[in-house]
Amino acid sequence: MLTRAGRRLPRSAPLRRTALGAGLAGALAAGLLTSSATTAAAGTTAPTVAAPDIPVANVKAHLSQLQSIATSNGGNRAHGRPGYRASIDYIKGKLDAAGFTTSIQQFTSGGATGYNLIADWPGGDTGRVVMAGAHLDSVSSGPGINDNGSGSAAVLETALAVAREGYRPDRHLRFAWWGAEELGLVGSRHYVGSLSATDRSRIGAYLNFDMIGSPNPGYFVYDDDPAIEKVFKDWFAARGVPTEIETEGDGRSDHASFKNAGIPVGGLFTGAGRTKTAAQAQKWGGTAGRAFDPCYHSSCDTLSNINDTALDRNSDALAHGVWTLGSGTTTPPPTGDTFENTTDVSIPDGGSAVESPISVTGRSGNAPSALQVGVDIRHTYRGDLVIDLIAPDGSAYRLKGSNNDSGDDVITTYTVNASTETANGTWKLRVRDLYRSDSGYINSWKLTF
Ligand code: TRP
Ligand code: ZN
Ligand code: CA
Repeated sequence: MLTRAGRRLPRSAPLRRTALGAGLAGALAAGLLTSSATTAAAGTTAPTVAAPDIPVANVKAHLSQLQSIATSNGGNRAHGRPGYRASIDYIKGKLDAAGFTTSIQQFTSGGATGYNLIADWPGGDTGRVVMAGAHLDSVSSGPGINDNGSGSAAVLETALAVAREGYRPDRHLRFAWWGAEELGLVGSRHYVGSLSATDRSRIGAYLNFDMIGSPNPGYFVYDDDPAIEKVFKDWFAARGVPTEIETEGDGRSDHASFKNAGIPVGGLFTGAGRTKTAAQAQKWGGTAGRAFDPCYHSSCDTLSNINDTALDRNSDALAHGVWTLGSGTTTPPPTGDTFENTTDVSIPDGGSAVESPISVTGRSGNAPSALQVGVDIRHTYRGDLVIDLIAPDGSAYRLKGSNNDSGDDVITTYTVNASTETANGTWKLRVRDLYRSDSGYINSWKLTF
């Protein structure tokens, strides 16, 4: 293990930077990982939240898309080829729709433009960043579905699960898809090199997923940062799946770019061109004397070159790693804070929009991904009404459109993913009555964080 200074230290060296602070180590030891918490009172220690199951069907749906992209772009998704850029655009589109802050980082290699995609989940302590990444480029000889559509799709689906679950880790989560790994870890080295020393020091863990659905799979865990390694090994052990330490070319994937900068790393791998031994076939099944991935770097690395069980287990383990490392034991923002405006505002019949403000103070960071908007509007024909929530920066969230609903009042609670909005500031409920003859008023409304 190389430290930041490049000095070799024994595993037990007390100086070494490790991914988990004493707090989480304590939580792990206390077995708190198995409990799930929804709310916590201010000032108490929150148990960590268990990761959700990652549906392997969703991961495979991303792989189908990557396969189609390769098929319609000359059979590959290699650096400098149109299939690579199309892969970036596919993943970015999913993340943007889910509320991530994405950016594409460009670099040049071999005379062609390459791209990294970085996706930040708003919130968490940006001084303590947990990253998960995968290389998105294939070799030019094939579509690269196991290498490395598998890692790319599982990292994507884990990021989407973070958004779906409204996960609010106390550390900051960042996901990445690297370009030009196959040309020598070019994209990830470019990213790490582009960070200031301060920003590099803020990354507490980098998790790498390169080939996690090999058709004749092994279950390999990177032997780097011991705390990260333990998170993964324990996950497999709890499910009765034996693991081995990854030895098929240490430093042959993007984690090396981070490790060389002194950042704690870990990852998962199901094997490439190396041959499965009889002992390995004994414990994992599959075929001894055959490569873990006989289609490694070839044209047959297609959608049929995937073992679904391996992809499923590794995707779930990936999510477990992100959830475990993302949660410290510090206090999450208080939940259940309610802000209400009970002043009546009359809504002109078939007229222009009216607004009722609520001023939110005393909260830090962004609004939740499941902001509760309680609305109480008294009206004689609610189908006339269009209702929007307006965030402090003016962004509008449509709560209800007009329709033929002849019922009267609107007394309900809407859930809004407001995780890209700053919580503090003036929010507004905007209501417009589009049609003449029925009318009413805003009786009250409230925001619950
Ligand atoms: N990174 C290699 C590739 O993309 C595959 C590989 C070989 C690998 N050995 C590894 C990945 C060990 C992770 C760990 O071609
Ligand atoms: Zn490869
Ligand atoms: Ca009306």
